[in-house]
Amino acid sequence: MSPQFDERGRLIHLLTLEGLPRTALLALLDRAQAIAEGSADRKALEGVGVCTLFFEPSTRTRLSFQRAAQRLGADVLNFDAATSSTTKGETALDTLKNIEAMGVRGFVVRHSGDGAVAALAGAAGPGTSLLNAGDGRSAHPTQGLLDMLTLRQAKGADFAGLRVLIVGDVKHSRVARSDLHALRTLGAGDIRVCAPRSLLPEDGTLEGCTVTQDFDAALEGVDAVMMLRLQRERMEEGLVASLEDYHRDYGLSAARLARADADAVVLHPGPMNRGVEIDSDVADGPRSLILRQVANGVAVRMAVLEALLG
Ligand code: CP
Repeated sequence: MSPQFDERGRLIHLLTLEGLPRTALLALLDRAQAIAEGSADRKALEGVGVCTLFFEPSTRTRLSFQRAAQRLGADVLNFDAATSSTTKGETALDTLKNIEAMGVRGFVVRHSGDGAVAALAGAAGPGTSLLNAGDGRSAHPTQGLLDMLTLRQAKGADFAGLRVLIVGDVKHSRVARSDLHALRTLGAGDIRVCAPRSLLPEDGTLEGCTVTQDFDAALEGVDAVMMLRLQRERMEEGLVASLEDYHRDYGLSAARLARADADAVVLHPGPMNRGVEIDSDVADGPRSLILRQVANGVAVRMAVLEALLG
């Protein structure tokens, strides 16, 4: 049994989309869609303490979780790592345990360590739920959910005929891993991945995907292009020669996008490196769903908070 379920099969933490049953995934997407259409219960989490516990920077995930919790009536505490006692050496687990002792039941956690959120969930008390807001390169489940909701709104609920292309630093991307888990669970018919060899994972992440280094060929006829942020620190590791080379080979321009289906949509989880992996006329253009993704993030996070803490 996955640690995100209790012995009765009830979802108690959201750690990963890997192994999340299709029925559970669809229930979260359906609820998020209903919330996006205006059916939120503003008192669902009245009096429930929720803490955003981020050990890594964030704009979208932290603020949209905060907004989601507030819209459900929760009492929200924002932990600031830079001014916290972690700077004096307090561990993440001691931090969680102390905030838990204040009566907080929901923790939205981002951490640089793979599996760090699951480890904290394993040590949390009964009745406490952890929501993974991104751990290492492993998982970013609510990003995966909001990406699926955005795709579903644009392309319909039947993913069997969907041709999706994921482009960029897949090797280090928790977003790509969560998207791939969700796309497989939803039965996406054609999943393509394009990246330089140096940015491709060597584990089983890409099972069932068509993998290529040829961005122009990979774009032919796709319904959705999911761009990934180039993690600039990878240049220091020698995995990318230069930003100019990367843009030439893997940057999405309007001319390149013309190879995709005429109705193809463009997604990016943010933050974007404009002029590197995506040009501004594409990011801000009519095919871009990037701000729709952000808006859907609030609805998805409300659905998840409601499911775990409501
Ligand atoms: N997409 C995403 O996780 O963005 P933030 O790092 O700003 O939260």
